[in-house]
Amino acid sequence: MPDDVNMTRPALHLRPYRPGDLLALYDVCLRTGDSGDDARATYRDPLLLGHVYAAPYATLCPDTTFVLDNGARAVGYVLGVPDSREYAARLEREWSPLLRSLYPLPDASDTSPDARLIRAVHRGYQVPTGAWLNQYPAHLHIDLLPVAQGGGHGRRLMETLLTALRERGVPGVHLGVGLSNVRAQGFYERLGFGLLEREKTSLTYGLTL
Ligand SMILES: CC(C)(COP(=O)(O)OP(=O)(O)OC[C@H]1O[C@@H](n2cnc3c(N)ncnc32)[C@H](O)[C@@H]1OP(=O)(O)O)[C@@H](O)C(=O)NCCC(=O)NCCS
Repeated sequence: MPDDVNMTRPALHLRPYRPGDLLALYDVCLRTGDSGDDARATYRDPLLLGHVYAAPYATLCPDTTFVLDNGARAVGYVLGVPDSREYAARLEREWSPLLRSLYPLPDASDTSPDARLIRAVHRGYQVPTGAWLNQYPAHLHIDLLPVAQGGGHGRRLMETLLTALRERGVPGVHLGVGLSNVRAQGFYERLGFGLLEREKTSLTYGLTL
């Protein structure tokens, strides 16, 4: 991916995901993967974050994936799964086995961010255990490159996904955000999300649809 994606403010349009967007999704995921900031210096393997937090969503749930297109590529996305339990089951069948074979369990002495994420891949996606899950079964991820932030595009992407989830009869949606990502927390609260759970390093928010 070219390095100049953050240099100019392009006109952006929102559209459904297409398979040709996949590499751009990996790129956006990595460049926003450190609590909203660039994670390229954090991970040795530039694909790892996208393998976990972007590609399986777009691949398994393309109808609830939307992107912001600057005319040349996707510079932002929202990824939604209508039912987190069903998503977990599909990941186990259709995604995680290949990923585990590509990334064997690292040595226990390896505490790098890559190693921690690979261990998470081997544990598998952990469906939330809170009683609230029945009320908020969907979950989502939203990430925009800096050039696309602060212009109302996050709200537009989110509203597009929420409409798609409502059309599918989904009662509610949850999401996780790092404790240090104060900006995203403000965004979610502005959009009407309420706090469901507080953990050591993350918060879970929910919104009734
Ligand atoms: C967080 C993010 C998705 C927000 O998208 P955005 O396009 O920057 O936000 P918008 O411009 O659409 O803002 C929508 C509304 O939220 C408000 N808002 C945004 N950030 C806010 C904040 N920190 N506190 C309070 N309100 C905020 C805006 O004022 C706007 O209000 P309005 O529509 O009522 O006028 C985007 O900044 C981003 O991708 N950041 C990096 C990646 C990231 O952190 N992703 C989330 C990981 S959990």
